[in-house]
Parts: sequence; C-alpha cells; structure tokens
Amino acid sequence: MTITRRQFLVFMGGAAGTVACSSLVGKRAKTLAFQPVQLPLPLNIGDTASDQMQVYSTYEVIDDLVVPEGYRYSVISAWGDSVGDSRFGYNNDFVALIEAEMMSFLAVNFEYISGKTWMQTYPEVIGQSLPFAEVKTALASRGGEINAFALPKNNPLKQQIEAIAKEGLIDQGIGVISVSKNNDSWERTPLAQDRRITGISGLEDGRYLQATGAAVAIFEKVDKLGYDDQLQVRIIGTFQNCAGGTTPWGTILSAEENFQAQVPEPVMADGSSMDPSQQPFVLTDKKVDGRGNPFGLAGNKYGWMVEVDPANAQDYGTKHTWLGRYRHEAVAVRAVKGKPLAVYSGCDRRGGHLYKFVSQDNVYKVADKANSGLLEQGMLYGAKLNSDGTGQWIALNPDTAVDPVLPSQVVEDEGQGLVTLPNPDRQAGGIVKVTQDADAIALKKFKTLGDLYIGNAIEKQGAILIDAHFAANAAGVTCMARPEDTTVNDQGALFVAFTSGSPGGDGGPDKQIFTGPEGETPYEYGWIMKLEEDKRDPGSMTFRWAMIALGGEPADGGLGFSNPDNLEMDSNGNLWMVTDMSTSKHNQEIPSRTEDGEQVSQSNLRGLFGNNSAWVIPLSGPDSGKAVPFAIGPMECELCGLSLSSDQKSLFLAIQHPGETGGMRQDMAVETRQLVMRTTDGQEFTQQRQVPLGSNWPGKTAQDLPKPALVVVQREDGQNLA
Ligand code: FEO
Ligand code: CA
Ligand code: CA
Repeated sequence: MTITRRQFLVFMGGAAGTVACSSLVGKRAKTLAFQPVQLPLPLNIGDTASDQMQVYSTYEVIDDLVVPEGYRYSVISAWGDSVGDSRFGYNNDFVALIEAEMMSFLAVNFEYISGKTWMQTYPEVIGQSLPFAEVKTALASRGGEINAFALPKNNPLKQQIEAIAKEGLIDQGIGVISVSKNNDSWERTPLAQDRRITGISGLEDGRYLQATGAAVAIFEKVDKLGYDDQLQVRIIGTFQNCAGGTTPWGTILSAEENFQAQVPEPVMADGSSMDPSQQPFVLTDKKVDGRGNPFGLAGNKYGWMVEVDPANAQDYGTKHTWLGRYRHEAVAVRAVKGKPLAVYSGCDRRGGHLYKFVSQDNVYKVADKANSGLLEQGMLYGAKLNSDGTGQWIALNPDTAVDPVLPSQVVEDEGQGLVTLPNPDRQAGGIVKVTQDADAIALKKFKTLGDLYIGNAIEKQGAILIDAHFAANAAGVTCMARPEDTTVNDQGALFVAFTSGSPGGDGGPDKQIFTGPEGETPYEYGWIMKLEEDKRDPGSMTFRWAMIALGGEPADGGLGFSNPDNLEMDSNGNLWMVTDMSTSKHNQEIPSRTEDGEQVSQSNLRGLFGNNSAWVIPLSGPDSGKAVPFAIGPMECELCGLSLSSDQKSLFLAIQHPGETGGMRQDMAVETRQLVMRTTDGQEFTQQRQVPLGSNWPGKTAQDLPKPALVVVQREDGQNLA
C-alpha cells in the first residue's frame, strides 16, 4: 500500500486541503533550521527543474562527514581508543546518550568487522600483529574455512585461529563510556562504569552474560538433541550488535543481528544448537567469520536482545529470551502506566518479520528500574499486515495454528518465491527452503507450533522463541522488506524503516504490501511505515499501518534517498533517518540506464544516491512528508546511531566502516565517473562525478588509516539542531 502525498497528510493527522505543499522557499524547509547539504542528485525541495541539469552536471564526493553550513562535528572516540580495560570496538552502530545530573553515559554497539579493511589496519591501529597470512595460507586448499572446534587444543593452527577469532570478537559487542559537556564541547571523563562487553566476555574472565525467560529451560536441559556447551544459563559474549534502544528506566537494549555469520542459526526441534561445525571458521581476503567456531559457542545463545544498565559497572548484560531469537535490528519500548509494556523489534533479513513482546504484568512507574522485570514474563507476537491497512498480532506460542506463508505470496527471486520453514523432518531439525506452495502447505500436518517442537510446555515455548523466525513463517506472520530501526513517538505510534524490497536467498517481502510507486515489485529503495495500535493500547492485538515515506528517485515519486536504516524522533516530532546502501553500490558508474536492451536494475542504479546520508523528515506542518538531507558520510561508510541530547543541541552519530571496500585511500586517489541522472521531472542528463577511492577518515590526511568512530554534531551558535 503506497500512498500519495495527500493520503500521507491525512494519515499523519494534517488537513490535506489546507496544508501548503508547494515547493520550499529557496532550498530551506520552512520549519527546519538548517540549509540542506547538497547531494549528488536533484531533490524536490527547491531545486527548480530548469537549473538542475546545469547544477548537477558535475559533482565532487568528499571523504568527510559533510554537515550543513554553520554546523560542526567532533570525534568522541574511534576504534582502538582505550575503554575500561579494553578498547573502543569496530563498526560502531547504535548509540544511546543516557543523561544524568553528574555524569552522562554513551552506550555504543560494535556490530561487525569489515574483513579486508580490519585486517589491513589492525596491526597499526591496535599495535600488534596477528597471523592472518599464515592462517590464510593454511586454509587456502580448504576454500578458506575449517572446523577449528574439532582440532586438538595444542594444535598450532588452532591457536593461531583462536588468536584471530578472539581479537575479532573483542572488536564486537557493547561499550559504555562516560562523557560530560564543558563549554558546549563533549569530552570523555573516564569512570569506573567505562567498560566493554565483548564477544568473548566470560570466556576467560568470568564475566558471563545472563539470560531470562522461557529459553532458559532449553539452555539448562540435561539431554539435549543437539550440541551442549555445558554452560547451562551462562552465556559467553554478545556480538553483531547492530541497533538498539533505550528504556524509560535508563537501561539500553542492544540488538544481536547477523549472528549467523559467527555461529549456526538453525536449531534442533528441542531448541538446542546444531554442532559448531555447521558454521566453520572462515578466513579469506574479505572475510574473518565463523569466529564462534573455535570456542564451541552454542548458536542458540545468540540472536537475542541484551539489556544493560550503563550506570551499573557490574552489569555485563542480560539476554531476555521472551523477546525472541532472530536477526534483531533494533528495538522500541512503549511504557504506559497501568498498561502492559510493549517492545517492538524487527528481524533484518529478506522476508524478516516485525515482532511485539507484551509483558504479563502492567507498568506501575514508567521510569522505575524494576521494569526490567517486566521483560521476564509475557508473550511474543508477529505482525500480520493486510493490504487494506489493517493488521493483527499472531502469538508465537505452542497453541498457535500452523498456517505457513506461501512462496507465491512473496516477491519472486528469478521467477520463484522462497520461504524458510522448520524442517518437516523433526528428527534432523533445522530448516528447509521451499519454493512451491504445496511444500509449504504440507507443513500443516503439524497442527500447531507446539506440534513442531519437542519438550514439555515451557520447553516447547522456549524452542519456539529460539526458532522465532522460522516458527513465525510457519504461523503465517507477514514477510517484510528487511525491517531495520523501530521508534515510537510520544503518542505511542510506531515507525519502522524497511531498507530493501529485493528478494534473495533468505526469502522476499510480501508482494501485496511492499510495492513501488506504481505497485511494482521488487522495489529496492525502501519505505518508512507508521503503525498505530487500535485504541492506542500497547497490548492491542490489532492495528492500522501505512507507508509514510518512500525511497527512490524523485522523478518516480521517491524522496531522493535509498535504503533507510536508523530512525530517531526529535522533540518537535521530526523523524531523523540515516541510510545504509550497500557499500559496493556507492557511486557506482551508470553510463546508461539500459544494458543489453533491459533497464538497469534498481539495485545497480543506487550509484545515483552517492554516499550514505542523514535526513530529517518533518511529520507535521508545511514541510510534512518531505525529506531534507542533513549530512553526508565519508567514503564507503554507513551512518548509524542518531542519538539526540534531550536539549536537542547535540546529535551523536556513529560512522561505520569508512573505506569498507577500498581500504585506505592511497595518495588521495580520485576517479571521475559518469552517471546518467534524471531531473526531478524525469529528463536524463549525464553527471561527471569525482569519487575518492577508499577513505582516510577521520584523520583526513594522505595515508591516514580509515577507522570507524563516534562523533557529535552541533550548531556553531549552540542552538537547537533543527
Ligand atoms: Fe546492521 Fe540491519 O543493519
Ligand atoms: Ca541497521
Ligand atoms: Ca545497516
């Protein structure tokens, strides 16, 4: 269901007939304080069509964080900086500012390591060497991978692999740093709370993570069908921490996303893990993955939501299993006094779902730290969207009927839809990929989700939570277009970014729901959806939804961005958003819009949009529904985080993976590329674009190594950002 601007205004509560929706005055939004940064493509925010061809015939991409005139940024911390007894990790993503009178904390997620650039820069940044070349040579004849778990402890290759895997896992996880503001500048003020929770916390230091909820019954089960790490409820580490959220009681929730890169994802029918050999250690020119393998980490202990109280120096994190195990992108918490707690989170994969946890008990005091206990008992639901803008929540419990999503309901990849389901051979466990409706329907020989999983009542529930994505497909929960961030506004409405509508090896989105401006599928460029619970009740089992922003080229009705990812709401109700286009597509040359008589795919047209960028989308007033560019990232990076201080004067941004594909920019190398662009009214013209090759950010001088880093953006006059 894609909507017109008029429908958008009605849904957002504006009076469509009375709102002035003409172009903006000059190039500035009437209601925003900043002059938009200039992107490589013309936008419908004041660029007149007649000038566009001339203005945009050339464009120079800059290897820096570009912010509006009158704004500045400064680096708070970069990869390798000291944090507690460890270091600031790699690929910072989620950022939360937890403000208090005497001190404030920044909690930061470190998502993954970009293999090529991490290996290139590790020795100099961290100041020690690792045996990358030796291990690569040893694995070359095995396709770059090995089940290191099976090697004897004293095997020299195993020891080399463990050394590399440990360092990679240390660069992932969560960090807490304390900060204070002096004369408008933010400074680190290290305190006892400064600490790292890494991918190996607990392995050697006893700092295990804890777990709550029904899946604990599976961790503690004695005779598991699959692999047993012998640790019961204790958990080693957290990794692939992508986005997250803050709770009204001052803790943060950190989302474990693509955990399948380090440990096996599918599980046995009792919820126990597959053998570590199912995700071997991998080392190639571009990848250092399967890092859970040498240590025998149990796959079912990753893919959870981790709660941490930054102010409590002893807190190394708790995985709340009632929130489900899947590729958690982010989380949004809605706490209303006298109502159950609602916690929303999406699973970022092609065909992933949107989930809601509803607590068993009601919120008594919204800001009370005891609310963490509400995350320990309740129910997990998956969203079913109807194409008429209504929807309902489906409980993921043993009583729910098996009624699978059908391959014919999702966007096809090379002519066929694909759905992943629990393997009907329950002795073997794991999953199957089905492309024929009949194969999905055959799963109905299991009447309920409880029939698919093995154990007593609580163990079945635990297994369903562990296998949440595949159980949700079996229950008919709607397949979506890679749900990324979720955020709620002060009226309790939920906003969800869907980053990409293309199908792939994990599945595809529902083809009635995730369509382009003309109803077409696949649609790559993304959407932002608004979801309102019926009666605004956090515990409601029904809701209404609508797409309120569409990615894509302005000439086709898009807002000029591609692949929305993280979201943040400011105190004026403006929605802030950052993009995450795949690095390989950044500034990709487009010499023609057709190739061999076919239209170039939307995926390959993403070069048009330049580097990843940050945007502000007003949701009310005269600029309602427009998207205004606020910042452009350095080369080959993704902008993440988006955390605003409560006074709205500071924006914390994580600059993730600069130089991800090109590595260090050598001697200020630059290349001129041709891109066939379009004006906002659809006329083609060619742009000569200068593109730096690789990155030297944040140092910005020749031969500086690219490093992920956390920055703060402020206005030079100290006023509110927007
Ligand atoms: Fe880690 Fe879905 O972004
Ligand atoms: Ca993300
Ligand atoms: Ca991302």
